[in-house]
Amino acid sequence: MKANIVLLPGDGIGPEVVSAAVRVLEAIGQRFGHTFKFTEHLIGGCAIDQTGNPLPEATLEACRTADAVLLGAVGGPKWDDPRASVRPEQGLLGLRRGLGVFANLRPVRVHPALIEASPLKPDRLQGVDLIVVRELTGGLYFGQPKKREWVNGQYHAVDTLEYSETEIERIVDLAFRLACQRRKKVSSVDKANVLESSRLWREVTNRVAQRYPDILLEHVLVDTAAMRLISAPHSFDVVVTENMFGDILTDEAAVLVGSMGMLPSASLNGKHGGLYEPIHGSAPDIAGQGIANPIGTILSAAMLLRYSLGLEQEARAIERAVDRAIEEGCRTRDLGGSLSTTAMTDAVIERLG
Ligand code: NAD
Ligand code: IPM
Ligand code: MN
Repeated sequence: MKANIVLLPGDGIGPEVVSAAVRVLEAIGQRFGHTFKFTEHLIGGCAIDQTGNPLPEATLEACRTADAVLLGAVGGPKWDDPRASVRPEQGLLGLRRGLGVFANLRPVRVHPALIEASPLKPDRLQGVDLIVVRELTGGLYFGQPKKREWVNGQYHAVDTLEYSETEIERIVDLAFRLACQRRKKVSSVDKANVLESSRLWREVTNRVAQRYPDILLEHVLVDTAAMRLISAPHSFDVVVTENMFGDILTDEAAVLVGSMGMLPSASLNGKHGGLYEPIHGSAPDIAGQGIANPIGTILSAAMLLRYSLGLEQEARAIERAVDRAIEEGCRTRDLGGSLSTTAMTDAVIERLG
């Protein structure tokens, strides 16, 4: 098959991990007879520096017409002034919203050989295999008003946490559909004891659950969920939650798998295309040193093959190669090893079979 893939390397370690994943995709193309056409565009801080806009029109247009988009990371200290009028992160948020990718899938599978890389007790990590379904285009990130105002001699800042029934229903329904192919359990995470938006979330979730009598549904308050995620992570199968809760819980989940560098994600709109990115950021503390862990981005590329191109066998080939490399002791620094980004990528490519 032929596919057009837009690359958005972005800032910090973004370009390092994206070029690693591209090498893996090229190797897959050769082995399985596919032609992937890659086109690179600007997003984030580097886009601000070159165009003044964190999401140039040409970038959004290219992403809209591509078969899929692979993104590294955006942001960094250079653009972090709280008073700055434009921020790299606005580019990423605009892209997610512009593509309508409301469903962010963040699978978290503990590799047995990496149990020792986590600070948690080994018995807690045995058999952990969960997926967080994060709502990505609503909630606090996008609710209006969002502003800063000068009132009575001081600033007031407002963010709005807002959800419609339609927004809740489509993400929760997707979580239930995923659960049908897994261990048949959905944990809906909210803060319904305090937030009106969470009470609506709960009501809609109960309604959706009636369509899935075989799936066990539990409602978990987000504070308890944060605790359970590290004390009893195996008790989760599919976790569905609003935008910011999902953001925070998945960084916490990275502790289960041994490193921020390990976790991939897929952002889908239920139609065409898809945005794929590791869950980590631009890691300014290690950028430019060639030591970033490329696995989160490589596994994101596997998700791209699966969800946007329908190439299940090829996706599995990547996932198996990553598993084997880890089993055989290949490790970047974040996992206690000494392999560079390039050497780790080589190790995966050698094991593609
Ligand atoms: P971060 O995820 O960039 O880094 C957190 C820690 O994890 C750092 O110690 C970093 O070195 C480590 N780490 C992250 N990815 C790694 C990898 N692949 N290999 C090895 N170690 C890795 O989070 P932060 O430092 O809070 O944020 C830095 C910048 O990234 C901020 O500007 C933030 O807005 C941005 N950010 C962007 C995205 C994105 O583009 N999707 C996601 C999160 C944060
Ligand atoms: C992520 C990041 C982003 C988010 C930031 C950079 C806007 O933390 O992808 O997890 O909060 O969604
Ligand atoms: Mn995050």
